[in-house]
Amino acid sequence: MYQQFYGFNKIPFSSTSEPHFFFDSASHREACAAIKYGIGQRKGIILVTGEVGTGKTTLCKKVIEDLDKNVKISLILNPFFTDSQLLQAIVEDFGIHTEKKTKLDLVKALNHFLIQLHSTGGNAVLIIDEAQHLSARQLEQVRLLSNLETSEEKLLQLVLMGQPELTEKLNQYKLRQIRQRIFVKYQLSPLAETEVEKYMTLRLKNAGKDDFDIKSACYKIIYEFSGGVPRLINMLCDRALLMGYARGQNRWDENILKDSIKEIL
Ligand SMILES: Nc1ncnc2c1ncn2[C@@H]1O[C@H](COP(=O)(O)OP(=O)(O)O)[C@@H](O)[C@H]1O
Ligand SMILES: [Mg+2]
Repeated sequence: MYQQFYGFNKIPFSSTSEPHFFFDSASHREACAAIKYGIGQRKGIILVTGEVGTGKTTLCKKVIEDLDKNVKISLILNPFFTDSQLLQAIVEDFGIHTEKKTKLDLVKALNHFLIQLHSTGGNAVLIIDEAQHLSARQLEQVRLLSNLETSEEKLLQLVLMGQPELTEKLNQYKLRQIRQRIFVKYQLSPLAETEVEKYMTLRLKNAGKDDFDIKSACYKIIYEFSGGVPRLINMLCDRALLMGYARGQNRWDENILKDSIKEIL
C-alpha cells in the first residue's frame, strides 16, 4: 500500500523469511558454516537453537539454497504431527513413493532410498524446524532414523532447529541417547548493534531503494527496541513506514520511530 509512496518494488520489512533478503550477520554466517560442516562430515546430529524471531527458518532456507544439488533434503517446517504422520511427511518430502504406508513400510522405503543415494555418492539431510514441538517419542524416532550408517558414516544427517527450550527438552535423562549423538551445536544470536544499520540498508536496497533517508540516531532506537532480533526490527520498521506514509513524511527521525514503538507496545 505504501510501496508506491516510497518507491519500493516490494515490502522491505515483511515478516516472511525469504532467502533473497538474507543478511550475512556474524552469527548467521557461523551457524550456516556449522550446519554445512556437520552435514558434510556425516557424523551425527546438528542442533541449532535461537530465540523467536532470530532467523531460524530463514537459516533453514538459506542452507538449503546453498547445499550441493546431490544432497537430498527433507524439510519439516511445522512438526505438529502424530508419530506416523511425521514419518510419512519425511518420506514424502524426500520424494519417496510407497504403496503401503505402515510405519514399517515407510522406514523400509526410507532405508532403501538412503542406501541407494549413498552408493551414488549422494547425501541426505532431514531438517526439522520448530523441533521444540516434537515429543520425546518423536525425537527418539528421528534419532533412530538418523542412526542408519555405514561403517564410518551416517546415511541421514539430522538438523534440529528450535527455540532454546529444545535444549532443555534434550537434557531429559530419557533423551540421553540423542543428546550424546549431537555432533555440532550452535546457538543463533540476534544482530549486534553494529549490524542493524547494515541489515536495514540491505533490505531497503533489495526493495529497490538505496537512498532512503534515515537520521543516524534512529538506529540506536531500533536496536534498543529490538535487541537486534530481526523479526522485531522488521515489525518496527514496517510500522514506521506505514506511519510515514500516513503522515506524508518520507524520511525517518527519532519522533517517527518513538511514535511507532508507542503504537506497538
Ligand atoms: N539473516 C537474515 N537476513 C535477512 N532477514 C532475516 C535474517 N534473519 C531473520 N530475518 C527476518 O526476520 C524475520 C524472522 O525470521 P525467522 O527466520 O522467521 O525467525 P525464527 O524462525 O527464528 O522465528 C523474518 O522476516 C526474516 O526474513
Ligand atoms: Mg521459524
